[in-house]
Amino acid sequence: MTKPRIIAVYSGKGGIGKTTTASCLAWKFGNPAAPERTVLIDANARQRSATVVYEQLQVDAPYAVATEEDPRKLAYARDLDADWVIIDCPPSDLEAAAALDVADLIVVPYVARWLEDEAAALTLQALATRPHAVLFTMVGHNKGRVNAQARDALQDADVRVLKAHVRRYDAHETAQAVGLPVFLPEAQAAIDNADRGAADYTAVHTELLALPELSR
Ligand SMILES: Nc1ncnc2c1ncn2[C@@H]1O[C@H](COP(=O)(O)OP(=O)(O)OP(=O)(O)O)[C@@H](O)[C@H]1O
Ligand SMILES: [Mg+2]
Repeated sequence: MTKPRIIAVYSGKGGIGKTTTASCLAWKFGNPAAPERTVLIDANARQRSATVVYEQLQVDAPYAVATEEDPRKLAYARDLDADWVIIDCPPSDLEAAAALDVADLIVVPYVARWLEDEAAALTLQALATRPHAVLFTMVGHNKGRVNAQARDALQDADVRVLKAHVRRYDAHETAQAVGLPVFLPEAQAAIDNADRGAADYTAVHTELLALPELSR
């Protein structure tokens, strides 16, 4: 049995694309021929969004979902018989600690703002000793300057920032609501910009696959 590679999607901030990122990555890392080999653990017990997104799907998913009531128990993720484990973490470093400890890589969704608030800084402090990479999400279409500044500031602080980023498209919310992942041709035919949303997460997946923490 090979040990799974584990990605925790975590931020101390709410509403910044954790569940969307975890669900899209589970789709990309998933295998339609063996959906049980990719497990998305919904560890956000207060708000089971990843489970809801999964249950809403109108098509077969290439991954399985497991809901964890007690995120402090997540050390067992290491022993799952799976290739990939993606954890949608609760937005608290105390509650998410076991998930953060077991992860090979922590992906930190990050929305750049001109005056970045304390939660983002605290999130990155809590991760300083753990392998992590920041993912810019919900990147606004006229926010080039703010994003470039935020990227520079993080890189100056020696924080790894993924080159790929996720732009802001309503397609993500629409796709979740109708139960058609943005990656599907039928979603791209019916939902404006679903193709762009899909392209963004496809680039994130490609970049993650090449990181040393995730290659075996
Ligand atoms: N790139 C994006 N562009 C536009 N909307 C997005 C994007 N990513 C996510 N959303 C939407 O924003 C809302 C919040 O996203 P999501 O649920 O992924 O965030 P979260 O960090 O998991 O939130 P929570 O703290 O509630 O768990 C959802 O309605 C989602 O569909
Ligand atoms: Mg969520």
